[in-house]
Amino acid sequence: MELQGAFTIFLALCLSCLIILIAWKRTNKGGKLPPGPTPIPFLGNVLQVGFDETYQSLMKLSKKYGSVFTIYMGPRPVVVLCGYDTLKEALVDQGDDFSGRGEIPSIDRNFQGYGVAMASGERWKILRRFSLTILRDFGMGKRSIEERIQEEAGFLLQELRKTKGAPIEPTFFLSRTVSNVISSIVFGSRFDYEDKQFQALLRMFNESFIEMSRPWAQLYDMYSGIMQYLPGKQKYLYNLIEELKDFIVQKVKINEASFDPQNPRDFIDYFLIKMQQEKNNPNTEFNTQNLITTTLNLFFAGTESVSSTLRYGILLLMKYPDVQAKVYEEISQVIGSHRVPSMNDQSKMPYTEAVIHEILRMTNIVPKGVPHVVTRDTHFRGYFLPKGTDVYPLIGSALQEAKHFRYPDTFYPQHFLDEQGRFKKNEAFIPFSSGKRICLGESLARMELFIYFTSIIQSFSFCSLVPPAEIDISPQASGFANIPPFYKICFVAR
Ligand code: HEM
Repeated sequence: MELQGAFTIFLALCLSCLIILIAWKRTNKGGKLPPGPTPIPFLGNVLQVGFDETYQSLMKLSKKYGSVFTIYMGPRPVVVLCGYDTLKEALVDQGDDFSGRGEIPSIDRNFQGYGVAMASGERWKILRRFSLTILRDFGMGKRSIEERIQEEAGFLLQELRKTKGAPIEPTFFLSRTVSNVISSIVFGSRFDYEDKQFQALLRMFNESFIEMSRPWAQLYDMYSGIMQYLPGKQKYLYNLIEELKDFIVQKVKINEASFDPQNPRDFIDYFLIKMQQEKNNPNTEFNTQNLITTTLNLFFAGTESVSSTLRYGILLLMKYPDVQAKVYEEISQVIGSHRVPSMNDQSKMPYTEAVIHEILRMTNIVPKGVPHVVTRDTHFRGYFLPKGTDVYPLIGSALQEAKHFRYPDTFYPQHFLDEQGRFKKNEAFIPFSSGKRICLGESLARMELFIYFTSIIQSFSFCSLVPPAEIDISPQASGFANIPPFYKICFVAR
Protein backbone atom coordinates (compact mmCIF):
# COMPACT_ATOMS: atom_id res chain seq x y z
CA MET A 1 0.00 0.00 0.00
CA GLU A 2 2.83 2.32 1.02
CA LEU A 3 4.66 1.46 -2.16
CA GLN A 4 1.56 2.26 -4.20
CA GLY A 5 1.29 5.69 -2.51
CA ALA A 6 4.93 6.48 -3.20
CA PHE A 7 4.52 5.38 -6.79
CA THR A 8 1.49 7.69 -7.23
CA ILE A 9 3.43 10.66 -5.83
CA PHE A 10 6.35 9.82 -8.11
CA LEU A 11 4.04 9.66 -11.13
CA ALA A 12 2.40 12.98 -10.17
CA LEU A 13 5.84 14.58 -9.84
CA CYS A 14 6.95 13.28 -13.24
CA LEU A 15 3.75 14.53 -14.82
CA SER A 16 4.14 18.01 -13.26
CA CYS A 17 7.74 18.21 -14.47
CA LEU A 18 6.63 17.22 -17.95
CA ILE A 19 3.89 19.88 -18.01
CA ILE A 20 6.34 22.54 -16.77
CA LEU A 21 8.88 21.49 -19.39
CA ILE A 22 6.32 21.61 -22.22
CA ALA A 23 5.05 25.03 -21.13
CA TRP A 24 8.62 26.29 -20.76
CA LYS A 25 9.57 25.00 -24.23
CA ARG A 26 6.54 26.78 -25.68
CA THR A 27 7.62 30.15 -24.33
CA ASN A 28 11.13 29.59 -25.66
CA LYS A 29 10.46 29.98 -29.33
CA GLY A 30 13.70 28.25 -30.29
CA GLY A 31 16.53 30.29 -31.74
CA LYS A 32 19.88 31.00 -30.21
CA LEU A 33 19.21 33.74 -27.73
CA PRO A 34 22.10 35.57 -26.08
CA PRO A 35 23.22 34.13 -22.75
CA GLY A 36 22.00 35.52 -19.46
CA PRO A 37 21.32 34.55 -15.87
CA THR A 38 19.75 31.12 -15.40
CA PRO A 39 15.99 31.47 -14.98
CA ILE A 40 13.73 29.51 -12.66
CA PRO A 41 10.99 27.83 -14.72
CA PHE A 42 7.88 30.08 -14.85
CA LEU A 43 9.36 32.52 -12.35
CA GLY A 44 12.10 33.59 -14.75
CA ASN A 45 14.83 35.92 -13.51
CA VAL A 46 12.82 37.54 -10.78
CA LEU A 47 15.69 36.99 -8.32
CA GLN A 48 18.14 38.94 -10.49
CA VAL A 49 15.81 41.60 -11.96
CA GLY A 50 13.43 42.22 -9.04
CA PHE A 51 10.44 44.58 -9.21
CA ASP A 52 12.00 47.76 -7.95
CA GLU A 53 14.74 49.62 -9.80
CA THR A 54 14.69 47.10 -12.65
CA TYR A 55 16.80 49.38 -14.85
CA GLN A 56 19.60 49.38 -12.26
CA SER A 57 19.39 45.58 -11.96
CA LEU A 58 19.66 45.22 -15.74
CA MET A 59 22.68 47.53 -15.81
CA LYS A 60 24.31 45.37 -13.13
CA LEU A 61 23.62 42.25 -15.18
CA SER A 62 25.19 43.88 -18.25
CA LYS A 63 28.47 44.10 -16.32
CA LYS A 64 28.50 40.31 -16.12
CA TYR A 65 26.81 39.32 -19.39
CA GLY A 66 27.89 42.11 -21.71
CA SER A 67 25.95 44.44 -23.96
CA VAL A 68 23.47 41.84 -25.29
CA PHE A 69 21.88 39.33 -22.94
CA THR A 70 18.62 37.53 -22.26
CA ILE A 71 16.46 37.76 -19.17
CA TYR A 72 13.20 36.02 -18.46
CA MET A 73 10.33 38.24 -17.41
CA GLY A 74 8.47 35.38 -15.79
CA PRO A 75 8.21 32.79 -18.55
CA ARG A 76 8.87 35.34 -21.35
CA PRO A 77 12.40 35.80 -22.76
CA VAL A 78 13.47 39.41 -23.39
CA VAL A 79 16.72 40.38 -25.10
CA VAL A 80 18.35 43.38 -23.42
CA LEU A 81 20.50 45.80 -25.45
CA CYS A 82 23.02 48.04 -23.68
CA GLY A 83 25.34 50.80 -24.78
CA TYR A 84 25.19 53.19 -27.70
CA ASP A 85 26.99 50.94 -30.23
CA THR A 86 24.65 48.02 -29.60
CA LEU A 87 21.54 50.20 -29.70
CA LYS A 88 22.62 51.81 -32.95
CA GLU A 89 23.43 48.46 -34.55
CA ALA A 90 19.97 47.14 -33.65
CA LEU A 91 17.65 50.16 -33.91
CA VAL A 92 19.35 51.93 -36.83
CA ASP A 93 21.49 49.47 -38.83
CA GLN A 94 18.88 46.67 -38.51
CA GLY A 95 16.04 49.13 -38.04
CA ASP A 96 13.35 47.14 -39.85
CA ASP A 97 14.05 43.97 -37.89
CA PHE A 98 13.74 45.75 -34.54
CA SER A 99 10.84 48.05 -35.40
CA GLY A 100 7.97 46.19 -33.74
CA ARG A 101 6.41 47.29 -30.46
CA GLY A 102 7.11 44.85 -27.64
CA GLU A 103 4.81 43.81 -24.85
CA ILE A 104 3.91 46.29 -22.11
CA PRO A 105 1.56 43.95 -20.24
CA SER A 106 0.36 46.58 -17.75
CA ILE A 107 -1.31 48.60 -20.54
CA ASP A 108 -1.62 46.14 -23.44
CA ARG A 109 -5.20 45.24 -22.48
CA ASN A 110 -6.22 48.87 -22.99
CA PHE A 111 -4.66 49.22 -26.42
CA GLN A 112 -4.67 45.69 -27.88
CA GLY A 113 -2.14 46.63 -30.54
CA TYR A 114 -4.06 49.69 -31.78
CA GLY A 115 -2.72 53.25 -31.91
CA VAL A 116 0.57 54.50 -33.31
CA ALA A 117 2.61 53.93 -30.15
CA MET A 118 1.46 50.37 -29.52
CA ALA A 119 1.01 49.04 -33.06
CA SER A 120 3.45 47.02 -35.17
CA GLY A 121 3.88 46.15 -38.84
CA GLU A 122 1.80 47.78 -41.59
CA ARG A 123 -0.66 49.30 -39.09
CA TRP A 124 2.15 51.11 -37.30
CA LYS A 125 3.73 52.32 -40.58
CA ILE A 126 0.44 53.78 -41.81
CA LEU A 127 -0.41 55.47 -38.49
CA ARG A 128 3.10 56.79 -38.01
CA ARG A 129 3.30 58.29 -41.51
CA PHE A 130 -0.11 59.87 -41.08
CA SER A 131 0.58 61.26 -37.59
CA LEU A 132 3.94 62.72 -38.60
CA THR A 133 2.42 64.42 -41.64
CA ILE A 134 -0.32 66.01 -39.57
CA LEU A 135 2.10 67.13 -36.83
CA ARG A 136 4.41 68.66 -39.45
CA ASP A 137 1.67 70.29 -41.51
CA PHE A 138 -0.21 71.60 -38.57
CA GLY A 139 2.23 74.37 -37.86
CA MET A 140 1.96 75.55 -41.46
CA GLY A 141 -1.58 76.87 -40.97
CA LYS A 142 -2.68 80.18 -39.56
CA ARG A 143 -0.44 79.94 -36.54
CA SER A 144 2.76 78.02 -36.20
CA ILE A 145 3.34 75.54 -33.39
CA GLU A 146 6.03 77.88 -32.14
CA GLU A 147 3.47 80.66 -31.68
CA ARG A 148 1.18 78.30 -29.79
CA ILE A 149 4.01 77.38 -27.42
CA GLN A 150 4.93 81.03 -26.91
CA GLU A 151 1.33 81.87 -26.10
CA GLU A 152 1.01 78.99 -23.63
CA ALA A 153 4.32 79.90 -22.00
CA GLY A 154 2.82 83.39 -21.53
CA PHE A 155 -0.20 81.90 -19.72
CA LEU A 156 2.12 79.87 -17.51
CA LEU A 157 4.09 82.99 -16.56
CA GLN A 158 0.83 84.73 -15.58
CA GLU A 159 -0.03 81.81 -13.28
CA LEU A 160 3.42 81.80 -11.74
CA ARG A 161 3.22 85.55 -11.10
CA LYS A 162 -0.01 84.97 -9.16
CA THR A 163 1.89 82.77 -6.66
CA LYS A 164 3.84 85.90 -5.56
CA GLY A 165 6.91 83.84 -4.69
CA ALA A 166 5.07 81.56 -2.25
CA PRO A 167 6.06 77.84 -2.23
CA ILE A 168 4.15 75.70 -4.71
CA GLU A 169 4.21 72.15 -5.96
CA PRO A 170 4.83 72.62 -9.70
CA THR A 171 3.38 69.44 -11.28
CA PHE A 172 0.04 70.78 -12.53
CA PHE A 173 1.32 74.28 -13.31
CA LEU A 174 3.61 72.61 -15.84
CA SER A 175 1.33 69.88 -17.15
CA ARG A 176 -1.58 72.28 -17.81
CA THR A 177 0.50 74.51 -20.03
CA VAL A 178 2.35 71.71 -21.85
CA SER A 179 -0.82 69.72 -22.40
CA ASN A 180 -2.50 72.69 -24.03
CA VAL A 181 0.11 72.70 -26.82
CA ILE A 182 -0.69 69.15 -27.92
CA SER A 183 -4.39 69.73 -27.17
CA SER A 184 -4.52 72.53 -29.69
CA ILE A 185 -3.11 70.14 -32.29
CA VAL A 186 -5.29 67.11 -31.56
CA PHE A 187 -8.47 68.89 -30.41
CA GLY A 188 -8.07 72.23 -32.15
CA SER A 189 -8.31 74.27 -28.96
CA ARG A 190 -6.72 74.79 -25.56
CA PHE A 191 -8.38 74.19 -22.20
CA ASP A 192 -8.98 76.84 -19.60
CA TYR A 193 -6.59 76.17 -16.69
CA GLU A 194 -9.57 76.10 -14.29
CA ASP A 195 -11.51 73.58 -16.38
CA LYS A 196 -12.34 70.78 -13.93
CA GLN A 197 -12.46 68.07 -16.59
CA PHE A 198 -9.03 69.14 -17.89
CA GLN A 199 -7.62 69.05 -14.37
CA ALA A 200 -9.06 65.56 -13.86
CA LEU A 201 -7.49 64.39 -17.13
CA LEU A 202 -4.09 65.71 -16.10
CA ARG A 203 -4.35 63.94 -12.76
CA MET A 204 -5.17 60.72 -14.61
CA PHE A 205 -2.15 61.13 -16.94
CA ASN A 206 0.10 61.80 -13.99
CA GLU A 207 -1.24 58.88 -11.99
CA SER A 208 -1.05 56.47 -14.92
CA PHE A 209 2.57 57.44 -15.56
CA ILE A 210 3.42 56.93 -11.88
CA GLU A 211 1.49 53.65 -11.59
CA MET A 212 3.23 52.24 -14.68
CA SER A 213 6.51 52.92 -12.93
CA ARG A 214 5.73 51.31 -9.59
CA PRO A 215 7.01 47.86 -8.53
CA TRP A 216 3.58 46.22 -8.93
CA ALA A 217 3.61 47.12 -12.64
CA GLN A 218 7.00 45.43 -13.03
CA LEU A 219 5.56 42.40 -11.24
CA TYR A 220 2.64 42.53 -13.65
CA ASP A 221 5.04 42.67 -16.62
CA MET A 222 6.46 39.37 -15.40
CA TYR A 223 3.31 37.51 -14.42
CA SER A 224 0.48 39.14 -16.34
CA GLY A 225 -0.84 35.68 -17.26
CA ILE A 226 -1.91 35.17 -13.64
CA MET A 227 -2.17 38.71 -12.34
CA GLN A 228 -4.74 39.88 -14.89
CA TYR A 229 -7.26 37.68 -13.06
CA LEU A 230 -6.40 38.98 -9.60
CA PRO A 231 -7.74 42.12 -7.94
CA GLY A 232 -5.28 44.96 -7.32
CA LYS A 233 -3.67 48.04 -8.79
CA GLN A 234 -3.74 46.60 -12.33
CA LYS A 235 -7.51 47.13 -12.42
CA TYR A 236 -7.01 50.71 -11.28
CA LEU A 237 -4.53 51.49 -14.07
CA TYR A 238 -6.74 49.72 -16.60
CA ASN A 239 -9.73 51.82 -15.53
CA LEU A 240 -7.73 55.07 -15.60
CA ILE A 241 -6.73 54.48 -19.21
CA GLU A 242 -10.25 53.41 -20.17
CA GLU A 243 -11.53 56.69 -18.70
CA LEU A 244 -9.02 58.61 -20.79
CA LYS A 245 -10.19 56.71 -23.86
CA ASP A 246 -13.81 57.60 -23.02
CA PHE A 247 -12.82 61.25 -22.97
CA ILE A 248 -11.39 60.94 -26.50
CA VAL A 249 -14.56 59.14 -27.64
CA GLN A 250 -16.59 62.16 -26.46
CA LYS A 251 -14.24 64.54 -28.25
CA VAL A 252 -14.60 62.54 -31.47
CA LYS A 253 -18.40 62.72 -31.17
CA ILE A 254 -18.22 66.51 -30.78
CA ASN A 255 -16.03 66.76 -33.88
CA GLU A 256 -18.33 64.49 -35.88
CA ALA A 257 -21.34 66.65 -35.02
CA SER A 258 -19.77 69.74 -36.60
CA PHE A 259 -17.50 68.02 -39.13
CA ASP A 260 -16.72 69.86 -42.36
CA PRO A 261 -14.22 67.93 -44.52
CA GLN A 262 -13.36 71.16 -46.37
CA ASN A 263 -12.19 72.81 -43.16
CA PRO A 264 -10.36 70.35 -40.95
CA ARG A 265 -9.68 71.87 -37.54
CA ASP A 266 -7.46 69.36 -35.82
CA PHE A 267 -5.88 65.91 -35.82
CA ILE A 268 -9.25 64.25 -35.21
CA ASP A 269 -10.80 65.96 -38.26
CA TYR A 270 -7.91 64.90 -40.51
CA PHE A 271 -8.36 61.32 -39.28
CA LEU A 272 -12.12 61.50 -39.93
CA ILE A 273 -11.42 62.64 -43.50
CA LYS A 274 -9.19 59.59 -44.00
CA MET A 275 -11.92 57.36 -42.54
CA GLN A 276 -14.38 58.79 -45.04
CA GLN A 277 -11.98 58.36 -47.96
CA GLU A 278 -11.32 54.72 -47.04
CA LYS A 279 -14.80 53.70 -45.91
CA ASN A 280 -15.09 51.07 -48.66
CA ASN A 281 -11.77 49.47 -47.83
CA PRO A 282 -12.44 46.60 -45.39
CA ASN A 283 -8.75 46.48 -44.41
CA THR A 284 -8.28 50.15 -43.72
CA GLU A 285 -6.36 51.17 -40.62
CA PHE A 286 -8.35 54.42 -40.52
CA ASN A 287 -10.97 53.09 -38.16
CA THR A 288 -12.45 54.28 -34.85
CA GLN A 289 -10.16 52.14 -32.68
CA ASN A 290 -7.01 53.57 -34.25
CA LEU A 291 -8.45 57.09 -34.13
CA ILE A 292 -9.13 56.90 -30.40
CA THR A 293 -5.92 55.16 -29.38
CA THR A 294 -3.63 57.25 -31.60
CA THR A 295 -5.19 60.49 -30.37
CA LEU A 296 -4.72 59.27 -26.80
CA ASN A 297 -1.08 58.29 -27.54
CA LEU A 298 -0.32 61.80 -28.79
CA PHE A 299 -2.22 63.55 -26.01
CA PHE A 300 -0.63 61.43 -23.27
CA ALA A 301 2.95 61.30 -24.62
CA GLY A 302 2.76 64.97 -25.56
CA THR A 303 1.79 65.95 -22.02
CA GLU A 304 3.58 63.76 -19.51
CA SER A 305 7.03 63.45 -21.10
CA VAL A 306 7.66 67.17 -21.59
CA SER A 307 6.08 68.28 -18.32
CA SER A 308 8.07 65.67 -16.34
CA THR A 309 11.28 66.80 -18.06
CA LEU A 310 10.52 70.45 -17.21
CA ARG A 311 9.78 69.47 -13.61
CA TYR A 312 13.02 67.51 -13.32
CA GLY A 313 14.96 70.27 -15.09
CA ILE A 314 13.71 72.95 -12.73
CA LEU A 315 14.73 70.77 -9.77
CA LEU A 316 18.22 70.32 -11.24
CA LEU A 317 18.56 74.07 -11.80
CA MET A 318 17.54 74.65 -8.19
CA LYS A 319 20.22 72.23 -7.06
CA TYR A 320 22.81 73.90 -9.29
CA PRO A 321 22.12 77.66 -8.91
CA ASP A 322 25.39 78.56 -10.68
CA VAL A 323 24.11 76.82 -13.83
CA GLN A 324 20.77 78.63 -13.48
CA ALA A 325 22.64 81.95 -13.18
CA LYS A 326 24.67 81.27 -16.34
CA VAL A 327 21.54 80.42 -18.34
CA TYR A 328 19.95 83.66 -17.12
CA GLU A 329 23.05 85.60 -18.14
CA GLU A 330 22.89 84.15 -21.65
CA ILE A 331 19.16 84.94 -21.88
CA SER A 332 19.86 88.53 -20.80
CA GLN A 333 22.57 88.90 -23.44
CA VAL A 334 20.77 87.30 -26.37
CA ILE A 335 17.05 87.93 -25.70
CA GLY A 336 16.98 90.63 -23.05
CA SER A 337 14.28 90.90 -20.44
CA HIS A 338 11.22 91.85 -22.50
CA ARG A 339 11.20 90.05 -25.82
CA VAL A 340 9.46 86.65 -26.00
CA PRO A 341 12.04 83.87 -26.61
CA SER A 342 11.86 82.27 -30.05
CA MET A 343 13.52 79.38 -31.84
CA ASN A 344 15.70 81.86 -33.74
CA ASP A 345 17.53 82.50 -30.47
CA GLN A 346 18.49 78.86 -30.01
CA SER A 347 21.62 78.83 -32.19
CA LYS A 348 22.95 81.89 -30.38
CA MET A 349 22.57 80.26 -26.95
CA PRO A 350 25.02 77.34 -26.76
CA TYR A 351 25.11 77.25 -22.96
CA THR A 352 21.33 77.05 -22.61
CA GLU A 353 21.23 74.37 -25.31
CA ALA A 354 23.89 72.38 -23.47
CA VAL A 355 21.92 72.69 -20.21
CA ILE A 356 18.70 71.47 -21.83
CA HIS A 357 20.58 68.51 -23.35
CA GLU A 358 22.12 67.72 -19.98
CA ILE A 359 18.68 67.91 -18.33
CA LEU A 360 17.31 65.42 -20.86
CA ARG A 361 20.34 63.17 -20.32
CA MET A 362 20.09 63.23 -16.52
CA THR A 363 16.29 62.97 -16.43
CA ASN A 364 16.63 59.83 -18.55
CA ILE A 365 12.87 59.70 -18.66
CA VAL A 366 12.43 56.16 -19.99
CA PRO A 367 15.68 54.46 -18.93
CA LYS A 368 14.71 51.00 -20.19
CA GLY A 369 13.35 52.48 -23.41
CA VAL A 370 9.93 51.46 -24.63
CA PRO A 371 9.96 47.70 -25.44
CA HIS A 372 10.48 46.63 -29.04
CA VAL A 373 9.95 43.25 -30.71
CA VAL A 374 11.71 41.72 -33.69
CA THR A 375 9.38 41.69 -36.66
CA ARG A 376 11.02 38.67 -38.32
CA ASP A 377 13.63 36.01 -37.55
CA THR A 378 16.70 38.11 -36.85
CA HIS A 379 20.42 37.44 -36.69
CA PHE A 380 22.16 39.84 -34.38
CA ARG A 381 25.76 39.67 -33.17
CA GLY A 382 25.99 35.95 -33.76
CA TYR A 383 22.70 35.19 -32.03
CA PHE A 384 19.38 34.22 -33.50
CA LEU A 385 16.23 36.00 -32.29
CA PRO A 386 13.07 34.31 -33.59
CA LYS A 387 10.29 36.60 -34.87
CA GLY A 388 8.29 37.90 -31.90
CA THR A 389 11.21 38.05 -29.42
CA ASP A 390 10.82 41.03 -27.09
CA VAL A 391 13.68 43.51 -26.80
CA TYR A 392 14.49 46.15 -24.18
CA PRO A 393 16.64 48.91 -25.74
CA LEU A 394 18.17 50.43 -22.60
CA ILE A 395 18.32 54.06 -23.67
CA GLY A 396 19.73 55.02 -20.26
CA SER A 397 22.76 52.81 -20.87
CA ALA A 398 23.79 55.13 -23.74
CA LEU A 399 22.92 58.34 -21.88
CA GLN A 400 25.10 57.22 -18.96
CA GLU A 401 27.90 55.59 -20.89
CA ALA A 402 31.30 56.62 -19.55
CA LYS A 403 32.80 56.20 -23.04
CA HIS A 404 30.64 59.08 -24.27
CA PHE A 405 30.09 61.22 -21.19
CA ARG A 406 33.00 62.22 -18.97
CA TYR A 407 31.00 62.30 -15.73
CA PRO A 408 28.05 60.03 -16.53
CA ASP A 409 26.34 60.39 -13.14
CA THR A 410 26.90 64.10 -12.67
CA PHE A 411 24.93 67.08 -13.95
CA TYR A 412 27.62 68.61 -16.13
CA PRO A 413 26.42 70.81 -19.03
CA GLN A 414 30.01 70.88 -20.38
CA HIS A 415 29.27 67.40 -21.76
CA PHE A 416 27.74 69.35 -24.62
CA LEU A 417 30.26 72.19 -24.97
CA ASP A 418 33.66 72.33 -26.63
CA GLU A 419 36.67 74.26 -25.27
CA GLN A 420 35.49 77.45 -26.95
CA GLY A 421 32.07 77.19 -25.33
CA ARG A 422 30.38 76.19 -28.59
CA PHE A 423 27.60 73.64 -28.55
CA LYS A 424 28.95 70.12 -29.13
CA LYS A 425 26.76 67.23 -30.32
CA ASN A 426 27.14 63.77 -28.83
CA GLU A 427 26.03 60.71 -30.80
CA ALA A 428 25.11 58.82 -27.62
CA PHE A 429 22.54 61.47 -26.71
CA ILE A 430 19.41 59.46 -27.51
CA PRO A 431 16.72 60.37 -24.94
CA PHE A 432 14.17 60.14 -27.77
CA SER A 433 15.49 56.68 -28.75
CA SER A 434 16.85 56.06 -32.23
CA GLY A 435 15.95 54.51 -35.57
CA LYS A 436 12.55 53.86 -37.08
CA ARG A 437 10.59 54.19 -33.84
CA ILE A 438 12.34 57.31 -32.60
CA CYS A 439 9.96 59.56 -30.66
CA LEU A 440 7.36 60.95 -33.00
CA GLY A 441 7.19 64.23 -31.08
CA GLU A 442 10.94 64.90 -30.84
CA SER A 443 10.99 68.24 -32.65
CA LEU A 444 7.85 69.44 -30.86
CA ALA A 445 9.40 68.44 -27.52
CA ARG A 446 12.69 70.20 -28.27
CA MET A 447 10.86 73.37 -29.24
CA GLU A 448 8.75 73.26 -26.10
CA LEU A 449 11.71 72.65 -23.81
CA PHE A 450 13.67 75.57 -25.28
CA ILE A 451 10.80 78.07 -25.18
CA TYR A 452 9.53 77.03 -21.74
CA PHE A 453 12.93 76.97 -20.04
CA THR A 454 14.03 80.29 -21.50
CA SER A 455 10.66 81.98 -20.83
CA ILE A 456 10.54 80.81 -17.21
CA ILE A 457 14.16 81.68 -16.40
CA GLN A 458 13.85 85.06 -18.15
CA SER A 459 11.10 86.03 -15.68
CA PHE A 460 11.80 84.03 -12.50
CA SER A 461 14.56 82.64 -10.37
CA PHE A 462 13.99 79.30 -8.66
CA CYS A 463 14.25 79.17 -4.89
CA SER A 464 14.35 75.97 -2.95
CA LEU A 465 12.97 75.49 0.56
CA VAL A 466 16.08 73.50 1.50
CA PRO A 467 19.75 74.29 0.85
CA PRO A 468 20.69 73.24 -2.71
CA ALA A 469 23.17 70.63 -1.46
CA GLU A 470 20.34 68.85 0.36
CA ILE A 471 18.06 68.59 -2.67
CA ASP A 472 17.48 64.94 -3.43
CA ILE A 473 17.16 64.31 -7.16
CA SER A 474 16.41 60.58 -7.04
CA PRO A 475 13.16 59.66 -8.77
CA GLN A 476 10.06 58.83 -6.73
CA ALA A 477 9.43 55.80 -8.98
CA SER A 478 11.54 54.38 -11.78
CA GLY A 479 9.93 51.32 -13.35
CA PHE A 480 8.67 52.36 -16.77
CA ALA A 481 9.67 56.01 -16.35
CA ASN A 482 11.87 58.04 -14.04
CA ILE A 483 9.27 60.08 -12.17
CA PRO A 484 10.69 63.29 -10.65
CA PRO A 485 10.60 63.43 -6.86
CA PHE A 486 7.95 65.47 -5.10
CA TYR A 487 9.24 68.97 -4.26
CA LYS A 488 8.17 72.50 -3.52
CA ILE A 489 9.60 75.62 -5.09
CA CYS A 490 9.24 79.41 -4.99
CA PHE A 491 9.21 81.19 -8.34
CA VAL A 492 10.62 84.60 -7.46
CA ALA A 493 9.94 87.30 -10.07
CA ARG A 494 13.11 88.97 -11.41
C1 HEM B 1 11.00 65.23 -23.36
C2 HEM B 1 10.11 64.79 -24.18
C3 HEM B 1 10.02 63.42 -24.77
C4 HEM B 1 10.83 62.33 -24.62
C5 HEM B 1 12.11 62.22 -23.79
C6 HEM B 1 10.27 61.26 -25.42
C7 HEM B 1 10.82 60.00 -25.54
C8 HEM B 1 10.26 58.99 -26.29
C9 HEM B 1 10.80 57.66 -26.37
C10 HEM B 1 12.07 57.17 -25.69
C11 HEM B 1 9.97 56.94 -27.17
C12 HEM B 1 10.09 55.45 -27.52
C13 HEM B 1 10.80 55.25 -28.82
C14 HEM B 1 11.00 53.77 -29.11
O1 HEM B 1 10.03 53.02 -29.17
O2 HEM B 1 12.16 53.37 -29.29
C15 HEM B 1 8.91 57.81 -27.60
C16 HEM B 1 7.88 57.44 -28.42
C17 HEM B 1 6.84 58.26 -28.77
N1 HEM B 1 6.67 59.58 -28.44
FE1 HEM B 1 7.94 60.69 -27.31
N2 HEM B 1 9.13 61.73 -26.02
C18 HEM B 1 8.95 63.04 -25.67
C19 HEM B 1 7.94 63.88 -26.11
C20 HEM B 1 6.92 63.53 -26.95
C21 HEM B 1 5.90 64.45 -27.44
C22 HEM B 1 5.82 65.95 -27.15
C23 HEM B 1 5.04 63.71 -28.19
C24 HEM B 1 3.82 64.24 -28.90
C25 HEM B 1 3.63 64.24 -30.12
C26 HEM B 1 5.54 62.34 -28.21
C27 HEM B 1 4.95 61.28 -28.87
C28 HEM B 1 5.49 60.02 -28.96
C29 HEM B 1 4.85 58.93 -29.68
C30 HEM B 1 3.52 58.97 -30.41
C31 HEM B 1 5.71 57.84 -29.57
C32 HEM B 1 5.52 56.45 -30.19
C33 HEM B 1 6.25 56.40 -31.51
C34 HEM B 1 6.18 55.05 -32.19
O3 HEM B 1 5.90 54.06 -31.53
O4 HEM B 1 6.41 55.01 -33.41
N3 HEM B 1 6.67 62.29 -27.44
N4 HEM B 1 9.10 59.06 -27.05
